[in-house]
Amino acid sequence: MSNPSLLILAGDGIGPEVMTEVRKIIDWYGAKRDVTFDVSEGLVGGCSYDAHGTPLTDDTMAKAQEVDAVLLGAVGGPKYDNLDFSVKPERGLLRLRKEMDLFANLRPAQCFDALADFSSLKKDVVAGLDIMIVRELTSGIYFGEPRGIIKEGNERVGINTQRYTESEIARVARSAFELARKRGNKVCSMEKANVMESGILWRDVVTEVHQAEYSDVELSHMYADAGAMQLCRWPKQFDVIVTDNLFGDLLSDAAAMLTGSLGMLPSASLGAPMENGRPKALYEPVHGSAPDIAGQGKANPIACILSFAMALRYSFDMGTEADRLEKAVEDVLADGLRTADLLGEEGVSPVSTSEMGDAIVAKLDASL
Ligand code: IPM
Ligand code: MG
Repeated sequence: MSNPSLLILAGDGIGPEVMTEVRKIIDWYGAKRDVTFDVSEGLVGGCSYDAHGTPLTDDTMAKAQEVDAVLLGAVGGPKYDNLDFSVKPERGLLRLRKEMDLFANLRPAQCFDALADFSSLKKDVVAGLDIMIVRELTSGIYFGEPRGIIKEGNERVGINTQRYTESEIARVARSAFELARKRGNKVCSMEKANVMESGILWRDVVTEVHQAEYSDVELSHMYADAGAMQLCRWPKQFDVIVTDNLFGDLLSDAAAMLTGSLGMLPSASLGAPMENGRPKALYEPVHGSAPDIAGQGKANPIACILSFAMALRYSFDMGTEADRLEKAVEDVLADGLRTADLLGEEGVSPVSTSEMGDAIVAKLDASL
């Protein structure tokens, strides 16, 4: 059998720095676990615009469709703020999501014991937190038509459309129920059925899928605004949350901050199975390109490294190795290692991006 293949799109800002640390982990798996990945690289976002005038070339898009998994760093930066909408760095990422049909975006929010003090919430509210947000990623208001800025009389009107088909809702609901069965067996679905027809349909379809296929899983429904409030009040009531593209964008940032640092959180975007049985997949940290600290060795590589752990688990069926990598991260944090985003404790000075990567590799070595 051929080696599993990875396409690395490090992107902009801190993307390349954190991805350098992921490369160390990938190399470690080749050297020490005999798992060799065929790695290729490409451009996405502002760096692709600089080189080719587009945030994603057709060639890179085609490569992304061929590989077993794509690892993405981050896109965007102030340099690109005034570009035309159609060539903004974010369009590259959205094109990957859409054309690979990555409809299920898994965003875990886990609070590491060593970091429970970093949350802006009280320690007992977040300690031991382990929830999974499943965000629909290829439809809804991000992609609905009509859209645009039009002229109506003397003024401009901005238009976006929230649109969901039954099958789009059903497939992401199934992803959420499947995940729940492997975790706490609970799904909470969030929408705004009180004000939006698309929310009414969402609730209906999730309920139908539940009744027909997953009645063993506990299902509840919440309006998304109340869900935001409950996430801050008592997040441990949740196991899996399933929600649409826009609500998922907002709720996952809120959930991320419960854990203390955006620099810690990975994500997986999964589509339908390919011919080899593996799902179409893209893995990326939840954080952005952080242009203010780019190039200074200050970035926390953990979110990107944990995204690779998700790739081991969801693309390559290597759950034990994913556990090993997650444990290595937990161990360096327990040792008190902190990148600059995690400062605050007295007497702790920050380690650099690459020192953090090296320390995680050392923990992997120690795990053998
Ligand atoms: C995210 C980001 C993206 C989104 C941006 C960069 C397009 O905020 O992945 O959450 O809005 O989906
Ligand atoms: Mg977001």
